[in-house]
Amino acid sequence: MSVVPPEAIEVPDGVLSRVREADGERIALAVRASLDHLRPWMPWATEAAAQVEAQRVRCREAEDLWERGSAYIYALRQSHEGSVIGTFGLHRRVGPGAIEVGYWVHVDFAGRGYATAGAAALTQAGSALADVERLEIHTDEANVMSAAIPRRLGYRLDRVEIRPPEAPAESGRLQIWISG
Ligand SMILES: CC(C)(COP(=O)(O)OP(=O)(O)OC[C@H]1O[C@@H](n2cnc3c(N)ncnc32)[C@H](O)[C@@H]1OP(=O)(O)O)[C@@H](O)C(=O)NCCC(=O)NCCS
Repeated sequence: MSVVPPEAIEVPDGVLSRVREADGERIALAVRASLDHLRPWMPWATEAAAQVEAQRVRCREAEDLWERGSAYIYALRQSHEGSVIGTFGLHRRVGPGAIEVGYWVHVDFAGRGYATAGAAALTQAGSALADVERLEIHTDEANVMSAAIPRRLGYRLDRVEIRPPEAPAESGRLQIWISG
């Protein structure tokens, strides 16, 4: 059992590595190329979020969150030096003893198993944390591509919560998937 997850995690065809400020430029490039793909589902996916400086700020925040143990955010690449394929995170925002896995993938790399592989790796890393008994993945019911991921990884659908949609394609029916 560990207190923090590893800073780098190998996945098939790639590596997840802890986000650093220097990643801002490559994350901004991935966001810019993927805006039309992300906008329906990710409330933060705006022109402003595709700016390098905005992503540098987010990366600095990610460094800070990691130090505080609030969230562990990773960039996925095909190799340590490559361009960014997506970002994945373990977020402590779902109550004590629990952690939430979040993800998005660059449009050019969608449908190749990267989100499944990254979410599987973070599920394993999250489960290995000493104070984590439960993992959650939250998906809007209309986002069938995303909901397929926790189902494929063996999470069970615990409940559906009604909330105002946060992104344009959302139904407002939030599925809470649980593992552990
Ligand atoms: C939803 C999203 C994360 C899915 O990412 P992805 O990398 O395309 O997902 P995966 O490739 O792992 O999904 C598996 C699909 O790829 C196929 N696939 C191809 N190669 C695969 C492999 N080696 N392993 C597993 N699946 C593979 C699977 O068959 C599956 O297709 P199916 O649904 O037709 O069965 C991505 O589309 C995205 O970023 N969307 C916008 C943002 C978003 O919705 N984020 C999540 C918010 S909750």
